[in-house]
Order: sequence, then structure tokens, then C-alpha cells
Amino acid sequence: MAAIIDSADDAIISKDLNGIVISWNEGASKLFGYSADEMIGQPILRVIPEELEYEESKILKTIRLGEQISHFETRRKKKSGEVFEISVTISPIRDETGTIIGASKIAREITDRKRVERLLVQSEKLAATGRMAATMAHEINNPLESLMNLIFLARQDSAPGGKVHDYLITAEGELERLTHLARQTLGFYRDTGSPTEVSLNQLLESVISVYSPKLLAAGITIEKHFDDQRKVFIRRGEFLQVFSNLITNAADAMRQGGKLSISTHESVGPWGDGIETVVRDSGSGIRLEHITQIFEPFFTTKGELGTGIGLWVAKQLVESRGGTISVASSTEQGNSGTTVTVAIPYGPPTGHNETLRAGG
Ligand SMILES: Nc1ncnc2c1ncn2[C@@H]1O[C@H](COP(=O)(O)OP(=O)(O)OP(=O)(O)O)[C@@H](O)[C@H]1O
Ligand SMILES: [Mg+2]
Repeated sequence: MAAIIDSADDAIISKDLNGIVISWNEGASKLFGYSADEMIGQPILRVIPEELEYEESKILKTIRLGEQISHFETRRKKKSGEVFEISVTISPIRDETGTIIGASKIAREITDRKRVERLLVQSEKLAATGRMAATMAHEINNPLESLMNLIFLARQDSAPGGKVHDYLITAEGELERLTHLARQTLGFYRDTGSPTEVSLNQLLESVISVYSPKLLAAGITIEKHFDDQRKVFIRRGEFLQVFSNLITNAADAMRQGGKLSISTHESVGPWGDGIETVVRDSGSGIRLEHITQIFEPFFTTKGELGTGIGLWVAKQLVESRGGTISVASSTEQGNSGTTVTVAIPYGPPTGHNETLRAGG
């Protein structure tokens, strides 16, 4: 029996009713990093993360009642301090008279399984978002187009210089802005056209023109510094999307007003010659514990107001074009702000990420 237990892959452990370890097999040593010598006679709490210590008293209570706990999923701590996900089954141990004297426990690491489960949930959410965007793009673009046509016709019929004519011109402008926004937020899934030669400076000007009324109204001043430069070979719609996302994020971070600066310059990076665009805001900055997560899909600090896909999408688009996107940020009072740098090489893209466009 002892030999079987020792050769098992699973961690098999027994403890008394005070939570003191009585036996500890090879599998447990491999899993937790502690040898049997280090654990026998020691409290099992050593492998339980502090915030989960309450679980132990609950487990012991259940065991005292003679009940088993099956496939309980929780987290435990290795000797190295690493916390990992685990599935445990715990059963009471009885002496010859049937009295419960302790518990035996079989544990198995499930970190990998959990990771796969989380990825699946994420990719399902993404697929759903893609389908929704494709539907919305269709449902919104068509009526928008007919509105544009109707207003155009009405303007043709109205007397130039008259009030109605002026109103219609304003309405047309606003509608154009709306169409532009809808294309950017929803059109990404549909931009399957070929890349063309695009002036980044012009592209940035057109994104800024869409957002400047909103930015100015929020007390944000806009500074531009564009160097002369060659054109880049990109899908225009994709990069309208990238920079809209960055500007929207900057605006969200400057609710009390501030400064948005956008500049371009030629540069040489590990990815070759190209153009770096720097979008800098004087907003709240990104907290250190968040900065590693901001490119993850569905990471947002905006609650209901954000979906958390803006930066994720931007990163996919930039990288599929062979470029890079990086973020630096400070939350220091009086000196806070965020700088996002997007580098696009002149050269041809090294790889394509077609999966992104699978949504339609
Ligand atoms: N310029 C910025 N200043 C401060 N925080 C930022 C900035 N850009 C991004 N963040 C942080 O990164 C998070 C993720 O950004 P991301 O654009 O991916 O999603 P979101 O803006 O929350 O939602 P959406 O999908 O609508 O873009 C934001 O919720 C915010 O916390
Ligand atoms: Mg965003």
C-alpha cells in the first residue's frame, strides 16, 4: 500500500484533526516542493495562502462530521511561494472503532486546465463581440447612408444662403462624423481591403478632426507635431481604428481637462525603418498593477462604460502590420500621464493576423 501511494502521481497527504501532517508522499513533495521530512509534524496551513486560511477550519469541520469533500477547486502555495490552482478530494480517516481521527487528501494541480478554460471563455466572448459588431455595422450603416442621401437631396432643394440650407449643412457634417465613428468602432471586422500607401500625418489629422470638438469641450488642448515623412503601406480603416482608440482612452483619462499631444517622426527600430507616432496625455495615468493587463481583452477599469478591447484590438492590428505598440505611464500627482508609442515599419508586413477578421 505504501509503495502504491509513493509511486502515485497525485499528492496524497494525511493529517490529524488539528491539521498536523501525518504522511506526505512523493507526489506531494513534487507538487508542493516540500519533502516529507519538512512537512510531517507541521501544520498543513504552510501550503495554504494566507487569504484562504479560513478554508482549513471549514474543511476540518466537514471531516469531523464524517463527510467527504470531492474535487474541491482552490489555490495552494508551493515552497517557492508560487500560488497555483488545485483540485482536492478529502475524506475522513477512522480508527478500528470507527472514530474519526484525521483526514486523507488527494490533490492534483489544475493550473493548466484553468488557463485553458479561461482562454475558452475569452475567445467565446470575442467571437460574440465580432458577430455583434458585424450585425451592428450592417444595421447602422445602411440607415446612416440613406439619411446622408436624404439630407443631400433636401439641401439641393433648399435655397442657398437660407436658414434651412445652413441647418442642413450642419446636419450633414454631424452625420458624417457619426458615420465615421460607426465605421471605426464597428468597421474593423469588415476592413478586408488591401493595404494602400497612406500618409500617416493625413490619417492622424482626420482622426483628430473627428474628436477635436469633443476634446475641446472637455477642456483638453491638442498639440500636434508632425515631421515630414514617407507614406506607409497600411489598411487605412485599421489605423483609423488604432488611433481613435488611443485618443478616446486619452480623453477618458483627462476628465478634468488636460493636454493631448500627438507627434510623428521617422525612426529606426528593431523592426526596421519606419514612423513612430507618439500619443501623450496628461491624464490620470495607469496604476502599476494594471499596466501589465491593459492589452488583455476585456481588461477595463471603466466598468459598464468600457469593454476593454480597445488596446487589445490596437495591438493586434499594429502587430499584424509588423509594428509595435508600447505604453509608459505615471500616476505621480502633478506629473501624471500616459504615453503610447506606435511604430509602423515602411517595409512590408512580416505576418498577417487573419483570424481577427473572421467575424465577417
Ligand atoms: N491613456 C490612458 N490613461 C489612463 N489609463 C488608460 C489609458 N489607456 C488605457 N488605459 C487603461 O487601460 C484599460 C484598457 O484600455 P482599453 O482601451 O483596452 O479598454 P477601455 O478603454 O476600458 O474600453 P474600450 O473597449 O471601450 O476601449 C482602460 O480601462 C484604462 O484603465
Ligand atoms: Mg479604450
